[in-house]
Amino acid sequence: MKTTATGYVNGEFCDLADAKISILDRGLLFGDAVYEALRVNNGRLFRVGDHYARMSNGLKALGIPVPFSASQYEAILTELARRNGVKSGLVYIQVTHGAAMRAHVPPKDIAPNVFAFIQTSEVPAWPRKYPGGVSVATVEDLRWQRCNIKTSMLLANTLAKRQATDAGAFEAILVGQDGTVHEGAVSNLFVVIGGSLRTHPVDGHVLPGVTRNVVLDLARTHGIPAAERAFSKAELFAAEEAFLTGTTADVCPVVRVDGKPIGDGRIGPLTARLIKLLAEVLQRETTDDGR
Ligand code: PDD
Repeated sequence: MKTTATGYVNGEFCDLADAKISILDRGLLFGDAVYEALRVNNGRLFRVGDHYARMSNGLKALGIPVPFSASQYEAILTELARRNGVKSGLVYIQVTHGAAMRAHVPPKDIAPNVFAFIQTSEVPAWPRKYPGGVSVATVEDLRWQRCNIKTSMLLANTLAKRQATDAGAFEAILVGQDGTVHEGAVSNLFVVIGGSLRTHPVDGHVLPGVTRNVVLDLARTHGIPAAERAFSKAELFAAEEAFLTGTTADVCPVVRVDGKPIGDGRIGPLTARLIKLLAEVLQRETTDDGR
C-alpha cells in the first residue's frame, strides 16, 4: 500500500505505509514509551522547546536515553511537516524503550525506537462543531499516579473519553476517588471561581500541559488572578466559567458538566478573553517575524 503521506522512523523519512517497527517493541508490549503531539501552524511548530523538555523529562523518568538534541528534534519534526506539505495540523512523535525479547526488565544495551507522523485533522475541532462551547462528562480517574509523564499507556484515557462521547459529551473530566477534579482525558481543565482562574497543580494526577502553561503565563502578564490549586467536583459545578486547554483544544469553553450549565451556560468573559490571547500568541510565535 502506498500513501501520499510521509512518516519518520529512526532517522529515515519514508512512505507512511512503510513506516514499521518490531512486534517486540516495548511500546507495544508494555506501553513503555513517551509521546508528544505538537501544533503546526503556518508550517511552524508551536512551543517546540516546551514539548522537547517535557518529552526529555518523561524519557528520563522511564530510563530511556534521549535520542536527539532539542535542535535535532525540531529539525526532524519541521522537515516532516514540510515533506507532507502541512501548514496547519498536528505532528505526533513517539520514543519507545526499543525492541527486545519480552521481559519486564529491559536489557541494558537496548536502543530506543523513534517514529513520527502528521495528522491533518482540523485543530482546534470545537469552534466549528460547538461554537457556543462544549459539554463535558465527569468520569472516575482510573489512571496511575504518574500522569505527569506523557506515556503512550492511554487506555484509561481512551475508555473515559469513549464513555463521555457515548453520553453525548465532547470530553471526559477525570475525577479522583476523593472528589478532586484532575484534568480532561486529552486536556487540562481550568475553572473561574470568584473571578480567579484555578487549575490542578502539576503532580502525578495531571499532565504539565504546554497550553496550560501558556495560559498561566498569559494570566500573569495580563494581571488575571490565577492559582494552581485543586478544586472539587462540587466547586466545578458551582464555577462561574470553565475551559479546557490542550494542543488539540486550544482554549475550549466548557458550558455544561453532566448536563448542568456552568454559569449561565454561555461562554464566559474570561474564557473569551483567553481564547483571543492564546490565538494571538500562536500566530505571533508561528510567523516569520515572531519568536
Ligand atoms: N494530549 N492532559 C492530557 C491527559 C493530555 O493528553 C493532554 C494533551 C493535555 C494537554 O497538554 P498540551 O497542552 O501539552 O497539549 C493534558 C494530546 C493533545 C494528545 O494526547 O493527543
